[in-house]
Amino acid sequence: MKINVVEHPLIKHKLTLMRRKDTGPKEFRELLKEITLLIAYEATRHIEIFETEIETPLEKTKGYFINDKDVVIIPILRAGLGMSDGILQLLPNASVGHIGIYRDPKTLEAVEYYAKFPKITENSIVFVLDPMLATGVSSVKALDILKKNGAKNIILVTLIASPEGTEKINKEHPDVIIYTASLDQKLNSKGYILPGLGDAGDRLFRTK
Ligand code: URA
Repeated sequence: MKINVVEHPLIKHKLTLMRRKDTGPKEFRELLKEITLLIAYEATRHIEIFETEIETPLEKTKGYFINDKDVVIIPILRAGLGMSDGILQLLPNASVGHIGIYRDPKTLEAVEYYAKFPKITENSIVFVLDPMLATGVSSVKALDILKKNGAKNIILVTLIASPEGTEKINKEHPDVIIYTASLDQKLNSKGYILPGLGDAGDRLFRTK
């Protein structure tokens, strides 16, 4: 199974706070933003940098800037929205698109209900955000749509992944690199991740 689990004491600590059922929406949102930033530190390790010359108060020297203008961030609605600020804090010049997908209750197929993307080229580094990689059905659909729109270099950033969802992405989109804070045990019969943290969207937006 190909997945990058970002191991760090701060991530473990913050994720434990997020999992607790008594953690309220304010803390949950702040923690999701903070963990996303910490995962993004690893997930952006290979983004392009360019050399530049600057002047310190003492002399001229060589420096480096990141090229975040070719970065595209795509939160999957709605829970992915809780991750965009964390990554944008590190990549402030990235452009942002949105994709909305729901699961048809009859056919169980993933259906696109919204998609708006900035310009995507073969040089774009596309970070797809979805906190819970559960069955993988919506992420696969999002990746299909993004590839149809020209995305070639895609990194999927999740907070918690299931083995089932990870296998699905590895099988259907083997070129996509996955970063997560935790690979959990399994899915339950309703498609929730165990032990997980419940419904991330509901906990972010207090809809239950
Ligand atoms: N979506 C969630 O928000 N939580 C899960 O456990 C699975 C899917």
